[in-house]
Amino acid sequence: MKYGHFDDNRREYVITNPRTPWPWINYLGNEDFFSLVSNTGGGYSFYKDAKFRRITRYRYNNVPMDSGGKYFYINDGESVWSPGWKPCKTELDSYECRHGMNYSTIKGVKNGVEAEALYFVPLKTWAEVQKLTLRNTTNEVKKLKIFSFVEWCLWNAATDMENFQRNFSTGEVEIEDSVIYHKTEYKERRDHFAYYSVNEPMQGFDTDRETFFGLYNGFDEPQTVLEGAPRNSEAHGWSPIASHYVEVTLQPGESKDLVYVLGYVENAQDDKWESKNIINKTKAKATIARFDTAEKVDVALEELKAYWDKLLNVFTVKTSEEKLDRMVNIWNQYQCMITFCFSRSASFFESGIGRGMGFRDSNQDLVGFVHQIPERARERIIDIASTQFPDGGCYHQYQPLTKKGNNEIGQGFNDDPMWLILGTTAYIKESGDFTILDEPVPFDNEAGSEVSLFHHLTVSFDHVVNNLGPLGLPLSGRADWNDCLNLNCFSNDPNESFQTTENKSEGSQAQSLMIAGLFVVYGRDYVELCKTIGNFAEAERAQKHIDAMVEAIKLNGWDGDWFIRAYDYFGNKIGSKENEEGKIFIESNGWCTMAGIGLEEGMVAKALDSVKERLDCEHGIVLNNPPFTKYYIEYGEISSYPPGYKENAGIFCHNNPWIIIGETVQGRGDRAWEYFRKICPSYTEEISELHKVEPYVYAQMIAGKDAFKPGEAKNSWLTGTAAWNYYAITQYILGIQPTYTGLRIEPCIAPEWKGFQVTRKFRGATYEIEVRNPNGAMKGVSSILVDGKRIEGNIIPLMPAGASCKVEVLM
Ligand code: BGC
Ligand code: NOJ
Repeated sequence: MKYGHFDDNRREYVITNPRTPWPWINYLGNEDFFSLVSNTGGGYSFYKDAKFRRITRYRYNNVPMDSGGKYFYINDGESVWSPGWKPCKTELDSYECRHGMNYSTIKGVKNGVEAEALYFVPLKTWAEVQKLTLRNTTNEVKKLKIFSFVEWCLWNAATDMENFQRNFSTGEVEIEDSVIYHKTEYKERRDHFAYYSVNEPMQGFDTDRETFFGLYNGFDEPQTVLEGAPRNSEAHGWSPIASHYVEVTLQPGESKDLVYVLGYVENAQDDKWESKNIINKTKAKATIARFDTAEKVDVALEELKAYWDKLLNVFTVKTSEEKLDRMVNIWNQYQCMITFCFSRSASFFESGIGRGMGFRDSNQDLVGFVHQIPERARERIIDIASTQFPDGGCYHQYQPLTKKGNNEIGQGFNDDPMWLILGTTAYIKESGDFTILDEPVPFDNEAGSEVSLFHHLTVSFDHVVNNLGPLGLPLSGRADWNDCLNLNCFSNDPNESFQTTENKSEGSQAQSLMIAGLFVVYGRDYVELCKTIGNFAEAERAQKHIDAMVEAIKLNGWDGDWFIRAYDYFGNKIGSKENEEGKIFIESNGWCTMAGIGLEEGMVAKALDSVKERLDCEHGIVLNNPPFTKYYIEYGEISSYPPGYKENAGIFCHNNPWIIIGETVQGRGDRAWEYFRKICPSYTEEISELHKVEPYVYAQMIAGKDAFKPGEAKNSWLTGTAAWNYYAITQYILGIQPTYTGLRIEPCIAPEWKGFQVTRKFRGATYEIEVRNPNGAMKGVSSILVDGKRIEGNIIPLMPAGASCKVEVLM
């Protein structure tokens, strides 16, 4: 069953039934000011950091689901309703939500009145702008009472939820003209405040939550709205809110726009006050003035759309598969940008207070957005590398506001350093900007400790080399990519965090075949980079370590039919036929096949066939099999999950593309395509009631074949799945790969594909690529013509910036 449909021309997903199986959300903002908005108007805003600078309050995991948001209430004399159905839940005559690129519209129709709320964060603006359009479609005069609503968060989203003995006494607001200012803690250490305005004189307001709702009423029945009269309350402590009251009379056929601005301001310490206890509102007023008419709002929305046109025009594809095209051209790229902005901080599954920016996560995300915004990727790489230590180890996460490493989680995830090589080489291949390698980058953000970024790559590589176990395989540390395979944790105490506890590490023989394969893949990238910049001695040194790793994998990592996953603390195999549960895992088989280890000897094909046989199912490839059915203290969190969920045999979508890419190494385009389709959201739209989360973005996990409800997805949006699937489809299936010297064309497609077209902007030039596959091949390019001239090999030489060329590829 579907709850809406794609509108590709407008790059929107249109939801026509508000009772989606889970709130289907969108993200607003792409730089400093951000909001999450659900299809019924739920969600919240923050400035840069969802934990430390939360602007409006939201209630996670509440009853009912999706509580708190930017709501409009309409009292039309007959009914009290909201354009998004929630929170009033008054039955609407019609409903439609359109989620677009960083904007959403939610429209409800009731009693002949159409109310459409547009939400977006204009470019370069520290505010969310909302335009509420009211239209009278009847022949009678309509008198409407409009109440807006947001609830202020007391800035720190974590303490906002717990320290009530203090919180209930701190809240402060100011009301001036039609603007409600939230200035809690402004008088002491904060130099920021928030505001909510409307571009009309208001006829009343409320800023005290209890007065607005009535102490025992829910979001669905504010007493002021039901009574049709605000109480002009001024909040002193408790829970400050902002609600404007505006009366609107509409003649038959008439419509009216109201513009609301929800903004954030920072003032310098010596410029905080206008007069005693009256805040300096200059900046707020300037922003409000930028959006004080509907026309100005429309212009800003057009600018936002033009910005997205530009971002999405770098790579466009046309195949015979409409569902594929809409993912590659629109939604997958959009999701990659969202993961760039939010990392794993704020979604409807991530509370915004748990995690900062992940070292491995952010590097992997980079391959999904670097072609859209290389300059911001550059900055991100420097930020990430600055949290590294001189031995190549690094903080697992850092806080976006301070850019400092997060001490609570610390370091010791031994796959982390290698991802910096992926991030950096992806950036250089895209941009051609080798100067980033000379950029001085500190260790642990210590001024004075700067070395070149290239040196950071060297210590990243060497971190693996210097941390090998007894079998010559990489020590896993707290965990490798699989955060839940905690081989040194040995925890029996539910109050210990699996992520940060190492009850045993002395004498540990825990080694990871996932890191081993990763090391071979990105180690080779490092070698290629060294050669490209003429550092042959370093290339030679590194190559020896890679060759040794390949040998170690062949010797100690092969189980006969697939690659072993790891060795535990004691040196026992994990992911081997010798194990009773968890005999085979996806990660090591993904990385070792991507690395092509044992390709000639048939190991790659065999490993992939084992994956097909044991891990594949209707909804995708599960992480391991058989699942763990009891707690293994020597494995940690992985065995804490019920079978079929998350890292314990869930379809962890992030690593399905590793197998997809592995299949392309083997040249099996049919398999690659089959796997791709299984987890691709636009292909699962038809089973939305089972899948549950948004059909326009990837989820981190789909319940696996051993789960209670196979096919049910969780944790949509903020997942490395976005970047990896984009990478797999564009670079390995469609096969358009940026390299240091030009675009390489190496498709690996399903034999029934007759061909496809790609337009790729690359280093300032435009490549119109047409691939033809008349003979039903899966891989292998037989000829390439560039502007009619045949080229040697499959790398299209660089065109001068501004040029465009026609590339004809015959498979
Ligand atoms: C989850 C992992 C996640 C980790 C983050 C675990 O509980 O299963 O997917 O990476 O938490 O700390
Ligand atoms: C989610 C985390 O964000 C990521 O870093 C990790 O690799 C996966 N879970 C697998 O555990």
